[in-house]
Amino acid sequence: MTPSSARPNGCCTPFCEAGGVRELSLYWKVCLTNGAVFVVGALALALSPARVSEQVLASEAVVLTAGLVLMLVVNGALLRLSLAPVDRVIRAMATVDLAHPGARLEQPSSGPGARLVEGWNDLLDRIEAERAAGGARALAAQEAERHRIAQELHDEVGQSLTVVLLGLKRAEDQVPPDLPEIAEGLALVRESARAGLDDVRRVARRLRPGVLEDLGLHSALAALASDFAALDRGHLTRTTSPGLPPLSSDAELVVYRVAQEALTNVARHAAAREVALSLTRVGETVVLEVRDDGRGVAELRPGSGVLGMRERASLVGGELTIESAPGQGTTVRLVVPT
Ligand SMILES: Nc1ncnc2c1ncn2[C@@H]1O[C@H](COP(=O)(O)OP(=O)(O)OP(=O)(O)O)[C@@H](O)[C@H]1O
Ligand SMILES: [Mg+2]
Repeated sequence: MTPSSARPNGCCTPFCEAGGVRELSLYWKVCLTNGAVFVVGALALALSPARVSEQVLASEAVVLTAGLVLMLVVNGALLRLSLAPVDRVIRAMATVDLAHPGARLEQPSSGPGARLVEGWNDLLDRIEAERAAGGARALAAQEAERHRIAQELHDEVGQSLTVVLLGLKRAEDQVPPDLPEIAEGLALVRESARAGLDDVRRVARRLRPGVLEDLGLHSALAALASDFAALDRGHLTRTTSPGLPPLSSDAELVVYRVAQEALTNVARHAAAREVALSLTRVGETVVLEVRDDGRGVAELRPGSGVLGMRERASLVGGELTIESAPGQGTTVRLVVPT
């Protein structure tokens, strides 16, 4: 067995060096604390007038018990002083919620626990930084994929439908005047092809919010609102507080995508009369709310839309809540830190 594996803390000497500071290892601190208590106990026994007879007398038993209790109390108090932060770190490890970043343990001024608490807080810093970077990478990857699909829809499906439209128009023009029913049939097919082309363009536009990049969040939300109005699935009121703090481009994208999905859900599921979309500042956060007075649901079973909204919110350290009750509508609320 190597010397380092013989010791629980892996130090070769009673001293450990970390962060440029040399101090006693936890193992040696516990040993020395206990040793000091036992030495004091032994000295008290040796130097005080108290003696133990062969047959322990009642008075000696009382003195021994008092001494033992005193040693236990002193030992407990000293160990507690050293090891309380260790317990706090163990508790924090069991209960840490990485979905709510920022919680840190209070740093003790000295002792082996101080090093542990410092290490734990540093570890949380690194994990949260890595999660934030991972979130940004995931968002970027999702958007890149959407761009690619939008491009392909536009360039391939869109082009093919345009060719079909032009071909139909040419065929229609060549139909002899004495066969009007064929011309009518071709016109109907051409109308369907045009509607298909419009759908492809609309889907491509939804996949790639160019307006967000070009004109910013407010215009992008206005564009979403007018797309929603065109669906005729409820009267929409849009409110944006003046002087909103600036958001990162990732956070803006998340606000936009959540508003988009929430409005799509209203159009698909709510049967609402009034819909309110608002973007406001609450303290150090920006809050997006999409509220409808539609049918609501007793228990909302998240599909990929709701799961996607939650996932996106967490990627920028935001929080998404949905309240819904039968007959009382649904409210989607996204809180994003600024
Ligand atoms: N505004 C709303 N009003 C009423 N029900 C809603 C509303 N929003 C969501 N729901 C309910 O929540 C469910 C989950 O929504 P979610 O967006 O996850 O899935 P979806 O819209 O059914 O499908 P998709 O994955 O394509 O978005 C819906 O099926 C619907 O029952
Ligand atoms: Mg949905």
